[in-house]
Formats: sequence, structure tokens, C-alpha cells
Amino acid sequence: MEKILVTSALPYANGPLHIGHIAGAYLPADIYVRYNKLRENDVIFICGSDEHGAPISIKAEAEGVTPREIVDRYHHSIKQSFAGLEIDFDNFSGTARPVHSELSAEFFLSLYNKGYVIEKTTEQWYDPVQKRFLADRYVEGTCPFCKQPGARGDQCDNCGKLIDSLNLIDPKSKISGETPQLKETTHWYLELPKFDQELRDWLDTKSEWKDNVKNFIMGWLNEGLKERAITRDIDWGVPVPLDNAAGKVLYVWFEAPIGYISSTIEWAQKTGDPEKWKKYWLEPDTRLIHFLGKDNIPFHTIIWPAVLMKQDLPYILPYDVPANEYLNLEGRKMSTSRNWTVWVNDFLKYFDGEYMRYYLAANAPESKDSDFYWKEFQNQINNDLANVLGNLANRVFAFSKKYFEGRIEAPKLSDLSKRLLNEAVSKSVNISDCYKNYQVRKAISLIMELARSGNKYFDETQPWITVKTNRIKALETLYTCCELLRIISVVFYPVLPASMKKLRKMLNLDHKFTWKAISEIVTEYEIGDVVTLFRKIDDEEIELQLQKLKSEDRAESSINQKPQIEFDDFTRLDFRIVKILEAEAITKSNKLLKLLIDIAGEKRTVVAGIARSYQPEKLINRKVLMLINLKPRKVMGVESQAMIMAAHDGEELAILEPDKDVPSGSEVN
Ligand code: MF3
Ligand code: ZN
Repeated sequence: MEKILVTSALPYANGPLHIGHIAGAYLPADIYVRYNKLRENDVIFICGSDEHGAPISIKAEAEGVTPREIVDRYHHSIKQSFAGLEIDFDNFSGTARPVHSELSAEFFLSLYNKGYVIEKTTEQWYDPVQKRFLADRYVEGTCPFCKQPGARGDQCDNCGKLIDSLNLIDPKSKISGETPQLKETTHWYLELPKFDQELRDWLDTKSEWKDNVKNFIMGWLNEGLKERAITRDIDWGVPVPLDNAAGKVLYVWFEAPIGYISSTIEWAQKTGDPEKWKKYWLEPDTRLIHFLGKDNIPFHTIIWPAVLMKQDLPYILPYDVPANEYLNLEGRKMSTSRNWTVWVNDFLKYFDGEYMRYYLAANAPESKDSDFYWKEFQNQINNDLANVLGNLANRVFAFSKKYFEGRIEAPKLSDLSKRLLNEAVSKSVNISDCYKNYQVRKAISLIMELARSGNKYFDETQPWITVKTNRIKALETLYTCCELLRIISVVFYPVLPASMKKLRKMLNLDHKFTWKAISEIVTEYEIGDVVTLFRKIDDEEIELQLQKLKSEDRAESSINQKPQIEFDDFTRLDFRIVKILEAEAITKSNKLLKLLIDIAGEKRTVVAGIARSYQPEKLINRKVLMLINLKPRKVMGVESQAMIMAAHDGEELAILEPDKDVPSGSEVN
């Protein structure tokens, strides 16, 4: 018996779950766990919600509620999704619970006391209105590389380069829109470079890991590990357990994985054997397997193992990290802000959770990105589940009821029948290997082959004829099919637990069963009430989903709207029509022009980034739109005292002129 501890990445409690989450971290894990339970391995499945971090505190502030309220709301919503999809954890905890805070503090101190954490003071962006330090992704500005405005402080979506937020041009707080200030702050850094050799040695033992995971890690190591801040300046999180650290909390990515352990501790307490968690986390024969989406790879394969290595207790390290690639939707990258996704709780209003399980498992992004297409979803459910497997079960059971009152005893089997069943048993061995190696797509295609061979066999043996000429032959067909369905009910159980229980109920078989029982022949079936295993999906149902998707998409966003502002914010902007008196190029720059403007008699200098689209002499005497109350800024040594407004579409710029003549200085609103 193997001892296995399976985890799924802790979902952030700042929003509901969508199909991308399910395909990446949860369904593959649940299938793996169910398979191992059938194999009678000692396996537990641990998760919980990730309840700290800036996104949650910012969302709470935006809604005027406490972070606790946000966390409770989504913890609940997430649990509902899991229940509807039969993703069945042994424990689902949350990181804002006391056990977790205590353990996280202990983890930090252990690293600190062993000398792997150093304290450093640096300058960081600070939002003077919000009175908070800004994480990199909450600062926005012009990319220092490609000069595209609207780049996030951590990465530019236009050129893809990683940015040091301190180098952003014209930075703005994404929360208040205000220009942030640089302010000194002290943080604690995990000295990852010290772990380089130890991590490489450990990773060398992991040649079996999936290629996508190994490549990712090697990329990181070869770029050189850098020290990483593991604390933050926010007020929602686990306090840094040091005297001089008031107001600082542990970085959510540092403490979240510790949630795997604290959730296991909570689980042990619930079972009445509070020490039981140690059997999993402290004994080296446990296989610790982390399921996750690829964005979580570095944290689980570099930072988390490093943290585990330097604890006072002998924690085990990850045995495997089967990460999945991304799931796209209708050929496009999923985007929650644009509502380009399928929310689980919404899906469950229309369809059975098993349909999502089937489709996401059969199209899992195991080794490369894959797609969710609604049409394909309908086809696969209707063709594979309803027409192939559902049909096999239905015809066998209906026939058994009609001609044999549902009583099917084993007759002597012909070679044809024996071959079918032997084939099924031997395929079950391949299917087992697939589950073991996280190849669920392949497992499903083997299972569907079994179901197809069942239909073929039924057609070929023609029981509707033999029942009139040679009843024992008809009985043989039915019996053989019942045996085949019994085998399918086991091998398909990890993917479709509820449907396979339904199938077993019709076969009058126990709900407690194991993989081993595949080869234990049942000699007599008494068919129970026959129900439809899989209902078909109509075209209209799919049309509805597609329409919903498209209308939400249009309404919400391909325009990429900035967050809404208050009317008061708007009235603080002073737009005017101004007249350009002089214009000249700024020699050191090929983008900038220096303008002299007139605002109702007052003269000002303006630096405008429009040189690519306008010759200076073409601008003289034109009246254009400017924002005149932006604080003056120095650009290339020249103080700019207003800002020109221009529309831009990629390269080309277009300045804005009033559509009839108005005096210079005219207000605009
Ligand atoms: N909340 C993170 C995410 O959804 C995952 C955290 S995994 C953990 O991407 F290991 F840190 F818990
Ligand atoms: Zn860029």
C-alpha cells in the first residue's frame, strides 16, 4: 500500500471558480485521488482557500466590507463549485485560520534563525492617497523598453519584458490613479541563491517529472536565483513574527503553501487523531503530489521546497508536481476581467457536473494548451457518453428486462464473448497505468474503446434475433455486456463517479468496490430500475451558452476599460482648448516636441510626445485640446506645463481639434 498526500493549489478566495481552475489543478487531482482510493492506497486529498494577499484587501476596501467578508463569500462559493463537480477533498481549510498563522510564523522563524532570511531597506512605490505601498502589479505606466503606455509594474503586455516597477515612466497607482511616491520600507528576503546547489541536487532526482515542468524549472535556475522578499506592507495577512516588524505581513506566496500542512493538521484534528498529520508530512515514505496550473510551477518547485528544507521538523519534499498547461475558451485566451470564461456555478445551473468532468478530462491541457468549445462539448457528451456508453447500457438493460425479467445468469461463454471480456481486463491494466501517470485523456480514450467494442459485439451477436431462435445465445450476449459494463463502472469511476454509481445500481452492484475487483467475475445479475445514464444536450442549450458568452464579452470589455471613477474625480480635470504658438523638435528625442501655447492670454511650455505624427511647422496656430491642471513635470530637461490630448491607434497619433472655432482658453467638459 502506498502512502500518498495529494494537494491542489489553494484557490484565491477573491472570486468564483471557472473551468480554467478546474482543468488545471482540481479535476486532475480528484481523478488521481479517486483512482488511488480504488487501488486501496492510503491517500488523502488536501486543499483550502488562499485567503490573504493584496487582491483580497483591495477588493474589500473597494466594496467597503472587511476582508473576512470577501473571504467567507468566496470560500463558500468555491466549496459549492467543488461540491457540484464532486471534487471531494478530505479537508478543505482556509489560510486565515489560527492553526495556519501559527504554523506560518514558525516556518518563517525557522528560516530566519538558520540565517536564510535577511532584512533590507529599499525604496518602493507608495500611494499617497490610499496610504499604502503598491505591489508591482498595482503600478502602471509607460514601458521603459517599448514605450507603450499602460504597462503593469511587473510586466509589459505589449513587449512581454519583465519590468522593474521603479523604471516605469510616468508611474500611476492603479488603485487611486495618483502618481505614487518612492518611500523607504524594510522587508525580509529569502536568500534563494544559497539554495542553488541543494535545489539542483534534489531536482536531479526528478527525471520522471513532466517535461513542461522540468523545462520551466531549468529556465529559472539557469537565469540565476535571486533573493525574494517574503514580507509585504499590508494589513491583511499573517503578521511577521519579529519585534521590529509592526504592520508587516508574510507575503501570501510564502505562507499559502504552508496551508497544505495546516489543512492536514486541521484534518487530523477532525478525525480525532491530532498527531496523524505527521504520518504524512514527516515520514519519508509519503509521496507528496502537488497538482497545479503552470503559473504556479516556480513557487512549488523552487521556493516551497527551499522553505521546507530548512525547517526544524523533517518535512518531506514534493515527490511530483504534475502541472497542467492552460485551457482556452473558443480559441481565445480566457480572461475573467472580460468575462471570457465559463463560471462553474453558472454552468451547474444548466448542466450536470459530470458533463464538465468528462469534457475537461477528455480534453485536459496535460502537455499543451487545450480548448473548451461549447459545440465540441455538446458533441462529445452526445456522441461519447449518450450514444456510445449510455446507449450500450440502455439497450442491454432494456432487453434484459423485456425478455429475461432482468435476471441474467452466466451461461457458457463462446470465444467471442471471452475475447471481449479478456480484452477489457487487459485494457484495464493500461488504463490503470494512464491514471498513475496523469494521462487521463488516454485513459478515457481506452475506456471509450471498451464501450464501442461492447456496442459492436451487441450488434454482431444480434440478440433480437437469437432471443427467438436460441435464447441461451441471447442471454450470453446480455451477460457478457453486463460484465463489460461492470468493468467500465470501475475504470470510469475516477472520471464519472456519480454516473458510474448509477450504472452499478442498475447492475445491482455494491457501491463499495475496488480496482482489484475488476477480475472478480460476477455470475448473476439482477437488473434494477433502468434510468437514463446521460441525457443529450440540445442545440438550443448550446446556442444559449454561446450567446451569453458573446453578449457578456461585448458588454464587459474588449475595450479594456479602466476602473470607473467618481464624478468628482472627473470634475477635477481641467480640459481647455489652447492655441499652439510655436513648435520645435527636441533634438535628443525623436518622439518629443516642445510647444509654446496660449491659454486665454497666458503662455505655457508643453512637451508633447507627438513628433512621430506631426511636423512642428504644421502645428503652428492650431487650436487643440489639452489638460492644463496636471502638475508640471520635467521631460528631457524641459518643464511641461500642460498635456496635449491625442487619440492613438498603435503607431499613429491624432490630436483633437474643436469642430468650430472657439476662443483659446475655452473650458471643455
Ligand atoms: N492562490 C494561488 C493561485 O490561485 C495558488 C496558491 S497555491 C499555494 O494561483 F501553494 F500557494 F497554496
Ligand atoms: Zn514594453
